[in-house]
This record gives sequence, structure tokens and C-alpha cells, in this order.
Amino acid sequence: MSVSVATEKRRAGVLAAGGHAVTASGLGKVYGTGATAVRALYEIDIAFEVGQFSAIMGPSGSGKSTLMHCLAGLDTATVGRVWLGDTELTHLDDTELTLLRRNRVGFIFQSFNLIPTLTARQNIELPMDLAGRRPDPDRLAELTTTLGVADRLDHRPAEMSGGQQQRVAIARALMADPDVVFADEPTGNLDSRTGAQVLDLLRRSVREFGQTVVMVTHDPVAASYADRVAMLSDGRLAGDLTDPTPDRIRAALDRLWECGQ
Ligand SMILES: Nc1ncnc2c1ncn2[C@@H]1O[C@H](COP(=O)(O)OP(=O)(O)O)[C@@H](O)[C@H]1O
Ligand SMILES: [Mg+2]
Repeated sequence: MSVSVATEKRRAGVLAAGGHAVTASGLGKVYGTGATAVRALYEIDIAFEVGQFSAIMGPSGSGKSTLMHCLAGLDTATVGRVWLGDTELTHLDDTELTLLRRNRVGFIFQSFNLIPTLTARQNIELPMDLAGRRPDPDRLAELTTTLGVADRLDHRPAEMSGGQQQRVAIARALMADPDVVFADEPTGNLDSRTGAQVLDLLRRSVREFGQTVVMVTHDPVAASYADRVAMLSDGRLAGDLTDPTPDRIRAALDRLWECGQ
């Protein structure tokens, strides 16, 4: 898999800066104010290595999506600092954040989020079109062949299965060669067999293309595809596993429950 010269340089810079694609320091998030305020995250310190597949796990309401949104520049932290490579997000204004998301971040969501009126090809090319960049036809062909959707490029989302739609969404996320792909419950709407295919493709994008992936999930089997699993509980980091297996993840989650009782 080929990556652009600009990306090689950026990755080299990130590696020189400690090898972290994403870093949070003292990251806290409170929704709302006064009596109705909800504290979703407490002073999170975490970093994600370049070229790793990381999972963020935890029970429903533990702050996984909030953490991902703050790391990806989709939402702003209440306190603390966030960096994408050596770019500090917490210093950027809305326009700069929009450009950063467009040019340097890929997203995969539980509900696929494809534009229904566009074909698969148009969906895949959309982020680059918006960024004023010319999609490389060779890369599009390589990605869609690897992802098994090369024969679906003229179809609209309604004409594809859920698994096909999610594979198109992965192609869209990878197409612009982002620094990081963030995935929020990417298998949440898929049956387990189709979900396994999607997880396998995410893992391949890390192993074969050197992609950095950060995936939010509450599913121990999904998390076991990752190189590393960070656990959240009630808005706090509560564990970190490397080379996880479903059994080790379940055991760690059980310990979290026991501590919380
Ligand atoms: N937009 C919001 N406004 C108010 N509270 C929110 C909002 N989004 C999330 N929360 C609250 O923040 C906490 C963490 O939510 P979330 O990050 O969605 O958790 P998870 O993704 O782990 O299920 C929960 O208590 C949730 O109710
Ligand atoms: Mg969530």
C-alpha cells in the first residue's frame, strides 16, 4: 500500500516527536452547567502510538464516545490538552478544526453515515472533494478491491447490505490517507460474522498499510482485534491491556465491576 510523500513526512515528524499519533493530557469534559451538569471525563492522560490498533472499552455511559469525540476534534474538552501528532487541537478555532478533521482524520460510525443520494464511489471520494484534493484512482481501486466492494462502486447505500456499507465507510475513512482513523462501535449494527470481517479489515489496514486506528467498543471480542485496550469506567481510565484476548478483557471488565460495587 502506497502512502503520499506528505504523509511519510508527517509520520516521520510524529515519530520524531515520540511516536504518538494522538495524545491527551488532563482531558476533562463536562456537559452543561449548574445543577444539570454531567461530568463525562475526569483528567484523562493517554497516548496512542502511530501504526497501532487501539481500542477504548467500557460500559455504556463510561465516556467512550466523549473521549473519542474530544480526541478527534469533533467536540472540545472542558479542561486539558489534546494533540494530533504535534498539532495541539485545544488551540485551534472551528475553521482550523474542520480543516484538520477533513485532511488528517478518518471516521467510521456505528450507523455507517453514508450519504444516501450518492453512490459508493461518490461517498468514498467526498471527503477529498470537500478538501479540494484529487482522489487517486489507483488508491481507490486498491482500497475497494482489498475491502471487497470494487463491484459496488455505482450502487447507492440502500442497494448494499450493512456489511458492504460499512466496508465503503472504511474505504472513505482510509481514502485520504489520514493520520488516524477513529471508529465508534463500527460493528454495533452488524451480525457477528460481518462484524468479524470488518474488524479483520481494520486490523489489516494497521498491519499492511501502517494505519493508526482508535476504536471505541463495548464488545470484548471486537476489542481483542486491537493491539491494546484502554478501559474506561465512570469517566476515568481504569485499565490498559496489551495483546488482549477476549478472556483477558472479560476478566479485566469483571474486576472493574467488582471494584464498582
Ligand atoms: N450531549 C450530551 N449532553 C449531556 N450529557 C451527555 C452528552 N453526551 C453524553 N453525555 C453523558 O456523558 C456520559 C458519557 O457518555 P458517552 O461518552 O456517550 O458514553 P459511552 O460512549 O461510553 O456510552 C454519560 O453519562 C452520558 O449520559
Ligand atoms: Mg458511545
